[in-house]
Amino acid sequence: MPQTVLITGTGRPYALGFSLVKRYLENGDCVFASIRRPSEALEALKQEYPDRLHILTMDISSTESVNAAAKEAEGLTSHLDLIINNATTASADTMKELPDFNLDLIAPAVNVGAVGPIRVVKAFMPLLKKSPIGALVVNISSEAGSIGKCYRTFYLDYGTEKAALNMLTMTVRNYIKDDPNLNIICIHPGWIRTNPGNTEAPLDPYEHAETLRKLFETKRHDKDGPVFITHTGEPYPW
Ligand SMILES: NC(=O)c1ccc[n+]([C@@H]2O[C@H](COP(=O)([O-])OP(=O)(O)OC[C@H]3O[C@@H](n4cnc5c(N)ncnc54)[C@H](OP(=O)(O)O)[C@@H]3O)[C@@H](O)[C@H]2O)c1
Repeated sequence: MPQTVLITGTGRPYALGFSLVKRYLENGDCVFASIRRPSEALEALKQEYPDRLHILTMDISSTESVNAAAKEAEGLTSHLDLIINNATTASADTMKELPDFNLDLIAPAVNVGAVGPIRVVKAFMPLLKKSPIGALVVNISSEAGSIGKCYRTFYLDYGTEKAALNMLTMTVRNYIKDDPNLNIICIHPGWIRTNPGNTEAPLDPYEHAETLRKLFETKRHDKDGPVFITHTGEPYPW
């Protein structure tokens, strides 16, 4: 049965969000793809899938913007079966170490990368609750958010926002634990070539999006399995 999916951060044709949108569309699903600025690539995809692709403008750093997008979606669909919180950010100082890092950049990054996904979950909860197949939320985290495995001296913003996203995922999971039709996980998606300058990463975004799509389906009703997982479904240390 086709499902209805919301994916955030989908405007860059070379990045993971756009490939996920393509994979779900190719699978026959209905996709709400969110962006914060116009995307030619997504507009072109809309020509191919005019009935099943809905482009939503949503800045996840703004509660007002997220709530407005949820209202718009409520006018277009009766339910959502899956949210993939893919959008994220990193500051200009992300590769710097403590002495050179402007610490005032951490809070805005956390506002996007950790609070943003949970804003989305909160605003779209009424649509998730109406899923006829049981809804899943996937928060795309990172190994960089693991406190137990932290080895870096940089990523003060990115690591912190992903660690905070993991905490928020677990807290929301506790909140919905008795709801058999609602599940939430966070995932380290692997090292993917989502940046045109990065040829080192082993995973191709389009190929990998399909691996992730299939993995997510195994987690929809898995309320007892690991919550922070890798792209092979293994638990990752918090
Ligand atoms: N690539 C990897 O190897 C890797 C490894 C581990 C984890 N991840 C995670 O996987 C996910 C996808 O990675 P990626 O490399 O494909 O990401 P990316 O290229 O950095 O794309 C991030 C997306 O988030 C959007 N975004 C930023 N701020 C936003 C805001 N305030 N509101 C709404 N959207 C916003 C960006 O929009 P604009 O285009 O408008 O800037 C962009 O489309 C991310 O969560 C990342 O942390 C990636």
